[in-house]
Amino acid sequence: MNPILLDVDTGIDDSVAILYALNALNIRVEGICTGFGNTDVGQATDNTLRLIKLANPDYDIPVAPGAAGPLQRRWSGPVVHVHGNNGIGNAELPASSQQPLQQSAADFIVRKANEQPGEITLVTLGRLTNLALALEKDPSIGTKIKKVVMMGGTVAAPGNVTPVCEANFHGDPEAAARVLKSDLPLTIVGLDVTMKTRLTARHLELLARNAGPDKRELIAYLQTALSYYFNYYTQVNDFIGACPLHDPLALLVAVDPSLVKMQTLKADIECEGRFTAGMVVTDQRTHPSIGRDVQVCLEVDSERAVNKLVAAFL
Ligand code: BDR
Ligand code: CA
Repeated sequence: MNPILLDVDTGIDDSVAILYALNALNIRVEGICTGFGNTDVGQATDNTLRLIKLANPDYDIPVAPGAAGPLQRRWSGPVVHVHGNNGIGNAELPASSQQPLQQSAADFIVRKANEQPGEITLVTLGRLTNLALALEKDPSIGTKIKKVVMMGGTVAAPGNVTPVCEANFHGDPEAAARVLKSDLPLTIVGLDVTMKTRLTARHLELLARNAGPDKRELIAYLQTALSYYFNYYTQVNDFIGACPLHDPLALLVAVDPSLVKMQTLKADIECEGRFTAGMVVTDQRTHPSIGRDVQVCLEVDSERAVNKLVAAFL
């Protein structure tokens, strides 16, 4: 069993990752931290609580609300054109009676790292603000968290916010830079691999045909939310009836690293520039002099990854 702590900005693809985590037999979700990004932190928290209820009304997974904006910058607001007015493609899910924790996401990360040293894998699917704040409160978590797998950044593939920047790192460059400065063992699951890992309308049809009666509401949710996401990727990336699985892939890799080929590279985060704030800079010179070692995912067995995801919803 893999004890996983999720950090999300729920978000259509975050929601697919959350539902996967709650359905996969080899994952124990220790808690979910929320933050701003795809939507505001309040909406991300509410979406997360509703998704937990959708996965199983008996679940009581702790949800810790976190940062409402970046460390040093003004937040530019929800990306409604990508994730809809409510962050989950305008899908309507029943409200949950579960209350979020009183403890902040940063305090919750610190608590879990200290309660279970060497055990927790933290999978970040949004901005790195909560983790940066946790490191500030207790730098010792750098050696207590087993590993951090981050959906963020890109090394060779084009960016999705600027030509060279990905949304999660660009959304709070200073937070990403602080995380890169820490002792945490880091894996980057960036656009290099997430853009190649695509869910299609065919997968959704397969789920609708074969999923058991207990999964009907979940599949109906996926159809509504993902059709919004498909439309966005059709308009912007010329995908037809498909979307990349950014956040789900990071979670899949956290549990099964054999899905990707990784390389250890020296990396740092650029915090300045109109096009470059939040860019991952790797030093691949013969004698690198900047950055620190990070595991960077550069190739993916996308078919196996998508099949694993789909199988959890059958
Ligand atoms: C990342 O940005 C968000 O829109 C997605 O949820 C994902 O975490 C992709 O760049
Ligand atoms: Ca996300």
